Amino acid sequence: MPQDPFAWIDERAAVRRAAGLARGLRPRPAESPLLDLASNDYLGLARHPEVTEAAAAAARAWGAGATGSRLVTGSTELHAELEAALADFCGFESALVLSSGYAANLAVVTALTGHGTLAVSDAANHASLIDGCRLSRARTAVVPHADPDTVAKTLAGHTGGAAVVTDSVFSVDGDAAPLGRLAEVCRAHGAALLVDDAHGLGVLGPGGRGAPSAAGLAGAPDTVATVTLSKSLGSQGGAVLGPARVIDHLVNTARTFIFDTGLAPAATGAALASLRLLRREPRRAARVRAVATALHERLTAAGLDAVRPDAAVVSVRAPSPDAAVRWAAECRAAGLVVGCFRPPSVPDGVSRLRLTARADLTDGQLARAMEVVTGTAPVRG
Ligand SMILES: Cc1ncc(COP(=O)(O)O)c(C=O)c1O
Repeated sequence: MPQDPFAWIDERAAVRRAAGLARGLRPRPAESPLLDLASNDYLGLARHPEVTEAAAAAARAWGAGATGSRLVTGSTELHAELEAALADFCGFESALVLSSGYAANLAVVTALTGHGTLAVSDAANHASLIDGCRLSRARTAVVPHADPDTVAKTLAGHTGGAAVVTDSVFSVDGDAAPLGRLAEVCRAHGAALLVDDAHGLGVLGPGGRGAPSAAGLAGAPDTVATVTLSKSLGSQGGAVLGPARVIDHLVNTARTFIFDTGLAPAATGAALASLRLLRREPRRAARVRAVATALHERLTAAGLDAVRPDAAVVSVRAPSPDAAVRWAAECRAAGLVVGCFRPPSVPDGVSRLRLTARADLTDGQLARAMEVVTGTAPVRG
């Protein structure tokens, strides 16, 4: 009897189920009565009529798909327009659009570090930066979270090319990286600073121009940022922002750019429309920050262990993975969707609910959401 090549999958699934860590998909309907504090649509633009109409118009004009990789037929004038608009808005010399933020992070880390170089990576970095370091074949030093002194010591012990790799806002706890200090340390050691601003664009900096802009690093010759178009811009896709020579290097060497179909025109057009809206309505960025602060204040006032948010993500500790899952389920039963993080997304012992602020939440919705989260909480101080 030949061996079943996938028998090990059933064993792993049984272990996951026993540990309460099994996951599954839950397709949502187009219209839902549930209040959403789980999505990354921070500015409430994913369903904005100007944005959805721009997506539809782009699909009609350019087709449903990009038709090829960016270096063959997949670069339309719309892609070029979005790249110019992103660079201008965020204050960088040049930009390059890729099919996701994940692909943008892999592109940057693999193309700018490599064999013989050192990548210094924050312990709480997003999986896409971690995977970029793994793929790059650079020597990777994982340093304690938000610790520029250890970054400095690590760089001091290395000769040759180096890059410091960090999220601007960490996706699980919602805290910000000490970008100013990291930039100083990088400059002192001739290292590049690679910043993933997935959660900063549209939320931080003047009018939502992002964390590098807030830290005075936009357009710096030694700083490269990545963004996703799928969170505050309510679309899909990713981009790299940096000096023109870095962007040109990526066009020529980054495998997730070269060997991937260009971003779909609908997503490209939607992101452009969102950027236009953000320029016109900078108060959206201020509102999402105010909503996040209000969420945090109400959670801590109720005795819950919430991390002070630096952007839109508000994280609340749960006593165990099971308690986090039950808490999220009770919120859902009461009409509120929240994120639930547990291993392997977070280390053992720090399972939590993750709430995301949105600029379009009304004060009434905010009050209702807090009533549900605090009313269903497993622990109180
Ligand atoms: C910090 C961070 N970087 C990168 C990504 C990946 O972006 P995308 O969803 O566009 O691939 C995400 C989330 O999805 C993220 O939270």
